[in-house]
Amino acid sequence: MFTALSTAVEALKAHYTTSNPISHAQHNSRLSHLPAGNTRSLLSYPPFPLCVRSAAGATITSVDGAAYTDFLCEYSAGLFGHSHPVILAALRNALDNGVNFGAVNELEGELAAALRARFEIDKIRFTNSATEASIMALAVAKVYTGRKKILVFSGGYHGGPLGFAGGVSAPHNIPHEYVIAPYDDIPRTAAQLSQLPPDTLAAVLVEPMLGSGGCIPASIEFLQYLRTAATELGAVLIFDEAMTSRLHWGGLQKKLDIKPDMTVLGKYLAGGMSFGAFGGRGEIMELFSGRLTHAGTFNNNVLSMAGGVAAGLLTAQILDAMNVLGDEMRVKVEGVLEGKTGGKVGISGMGSLMAFKYSGRDEVETGLVRELMFFHLLGEGLYIAYRGFMSLSIVHERSHVDAFVGAVERFVKKYGEMLRE
Ligand SMILES: Cc1ncc(COP(=O)(O)O)c(C=O)c1O
Repeated sequence: MFTALSTAVEALKAHYTTSNPISHAQHNSRLSHLPAGNTRSLLSYPPFPLCVRSAAGATITSVDGAAYTDFLCEYSAGLFGHSHPVILAALRNALDNGVNFGAVNELEGELAAALRARFEIDKIRFTNSATEASIMALAVAKVYTGRKKILVFSGGYHGGPLGFAGGVSAPHNIPHEYVIAPYDDIPRTAAQLSQLPPDTLAAVLVEPMLGSGGCIPASIEFLQYLRTAATELGAVLIFDEAMTSRLHWGGLQKKLDIKPDMTVLGKYLAGGMSFGAFGGRGEIMELFSGRLTHAGTFNNNVLSMAGGVAAGLLTAQILDAMNVLGDEMRVKVEGVLEGKTGGKVGISGMGSLMAFKYSGRDEVETGLVRELMFFHLLGEGLYIAYRGFMSLSIVHERSHVDAFVGAVERFVKKYGEMLRE
C-alpha cells in the first residue's frame, strides 16, 4: 500500500539521517536517560528529532551545523523571535540583580498591571505554564460554583494532563468529571448539556480556536452560545487563550467581543521565559485573597517577570502586522495547494497561527503525507512542528513567507501527481 508515497518518505528520511549524524547520536545516547529520548513528547518523531544548538532572530541552528528558518517559533511562545535585544537586555539586567528572592518582587505587580489592562481582566495570578494555569482555573471554578462537572471539547488541549484529542480524555488526564462535546457544534453540545442534572456544571473550558487540535477556529455563534449557556447554567466560562491571545491586542475574546468569566494565558507573554497566568472576574479570583491558596516556588520567578515586563515592547500595531503577514502566508499556501494534492494537504488557521491539515485513505497514509511535508520542508531549511503546526514571530518578514511558499510550490511540483493518484 502507498508504495510510491512510502518510498518518497523513506528517501527523505534517509537523507535526513545522513545529514544529521550528531542529532542522531545524541538521540541514541539520551534514550538511556529519558523515555523516548526527550522530555517533551511533542518534539519526538521518528527516526530521531533534530537537536538545536542555538538560535537568533528567525533562525535556528542544529547541532549538525545546519540553519533553518523557524516557522514553529516554540509553538507560539517565541513571538519575539530568538534573542530579541530588548528582552535579552532585561534578562541580563535581572541576572545582574540576583535571581529569585523567596519574596515578592518589584516586577510582578508591573506585569500584572500590564496584562490586566491589555486583556481587561479584574485580577490575575501567575504560574510557570499554561498547563498549571488551566489546572488552577478549573480548580477555582469548582470551588466557586461548588460543582464538579467540566465541559470540554474534542480536540481541545489545555496542557499535558488536560488533553481531549479524538474526543477522548487522555488516560493520564486529571480525573475531573468531564463532559466532552464536539467542537463548534451547537446542537450536539446543547444536547449533552440538556442531559446534565441541574446545578452540576462547574465550568466550560474552551479554546476560542483549537490550537494543538489543528488551528481550527470556532464560529462566533458557537462561542456566543457557550457564553449564553454558561450564564444560564451558572457555570464559569473559561477561555484558554494560551495560544490565541496573540491574535488580537485584547485576545481573540476581544476580537470576537465575547467576554468569558476567566481567561488562561501563557506562551509568549513572558518574552519566551516559562509562563502561565489565569485571571478573570474579581469575585472568583478574590477567593485567593483568603479562602484558597495558590503557591508555587517559581510563580513570580525573576526571569519570567523581567521577560514579561520587557515584552511590553509589543504594541497592537506590531501584533496586527504579524497577524496580517500570517493571513497572507496561509492564503498563499492555500492557493498553491488547491487542487494539487488530491485534498491530502490543506492549511487552516487564523493570523499568525496555522497548521497543515493532512488526510489520507487511512491513518497510515495520513501519517506518510505528514512526514512527506515535514521532511521536505526540513530539506528546504524550514522548520515546522512534525504534526504540521506553524506560527510566526514579529521578526518574520515577507521574504521568509515567500521562501516558505516557494518550498510548498516545490512540494506540489515534486509530489502532487503522486498524491493525486
Ligand atoms: C491552548 C493551550 N493551553 C494550554 C497549553 C499548555 O501550555 P504549557 O505548555 O505552557 O503548559 C497549551 C500548549 O500548547 C495550549 O496550546
